[in-house]
Amino acid sequence: MLRFGSLLTLVWVIVCVGCVSGPSERAGGKRRGPVRIGFSLDTLKEERWQRDRDLFVAKAKELGAETLVQAANSDDALQLQQAENLLTQGIDVLVVVPHNAETSAAIVELAKKQGVPVISYDRLIRHADVDLYVSFDNLRVGEMQARYLLDRAPAGNYVLIEGAPTDNNAHLYHEGHMKVLGPAVKSGKVKIVLEQWAREWLPSEALKHTENALTQANNQVAAVVASNDGLAGGVVQALEEQGLAGKVLVSGQDADLAALQRIVEGKQTMTVYKPIKLLAERAAEAAVRLARGEKVETNGVLNNGRKDVPSILLDPIVVDKNNIVDTVVKDGFHRLEDIYRNVPRDQWPRVASSRVVDSSSRAN
Ligand code: GAL
Repeated sequence: MLRFGSLLTLVWVIVCVGCVSGPSERAGGKRRGPVRIGFSLDTLKEERWQRDRDLFVAKAKELGAETLVQAANSDDALQLQQAENLLTQGIDVLVVVPHNAETSAAIVELAKKQGVPVISYDRLIRHADVDLYVSFDNLRVGEMQARYLLDRAPAGNYVLIEGAPTDNNAHLYHEGHMKVLGPAVKSGKVKIVLEQWAREWLPSEALKHTENALTQANNQVAAVVASNDGLAGGVVQALEEQGLAGKVLVSGQDADLAALQRIVEGKQTMTVYKPIKLLAERAAEAAVRLARGEKVETNGVLNNGRKDVPSILLDPIVVDKNNIVDTVVKDGFHRLEDIYRNVPRDQWPRVASSRVVDSSSRAN
């Protein structure tokens, strides 16, 4: 009996040692047990980031990996601290949505010192030894926004409401805008009456800048290139104050519900839909592969000022009132009844149920 008892104690002791020191124990550099991913997000403020988080965590789980998530509320010091915290928890790979493209290089340095690979998620970290960048083709996003408006307003006064200057994506969108609008500006057909960058992507910034532009241009504005739907909301508010909503073209990005409602109500012209499910799943797959020291398929590179970062760049999709059903509704990204909430039922598009993914099981 005693012997059995002491045997049991012995086994328990062995198991216990495993648990306690388990997390940082690594065999040949790789930690035993399921892959552990650290996911450091800038913010959960915009609608999309909550979706990114949920879809990434679900895919990682499906692949047998656990994900530790931290959101830094757009605070650089906090994001660095959170990354440190994730690293002390023995993560095998770090996935980062940087708040600030430049200062987040310190996070990469920290991780690399501990042999932990880093994925730049959606936004590129600059001047750092990033292992992989997974995003949409953001230059294309900017081109799509400007092209859609220029095709419908080939001449007149334009306003550019760019994104947060700390976000590398905002600079790529701007590059896309100017690539399309440049020739029209040169020819004198288009005049950019105001170009402003919205601190922290704040809709209130877009409202303020658009009000200034309307005053400066005496309400003579043909189009506003807004870099995302949050900003487009601020722009439309300023236009509504002048009775111009629906008369001035407005772009957007992210296919937020409020933006799709504005589009079917005629107050916003278009948005750029980025199927987040694809992005989150490709990133989770890549994270698990990197953690296991396996190769990751890429389809491009993007130079971040330090190196050509191997990249997976996905295709964005233009959405306007004519293809909402065949894109965001079909994917279950948003429900038809939510988008058309403020539109009389007899004006809703007729949709065969077979063409709609049941968004109650929305995982998109
Ligand atoms: C960008 C992102 C956009 C947008 C914005 C604000 O980097 O690609 O989808 O929403 O951040 O968070």
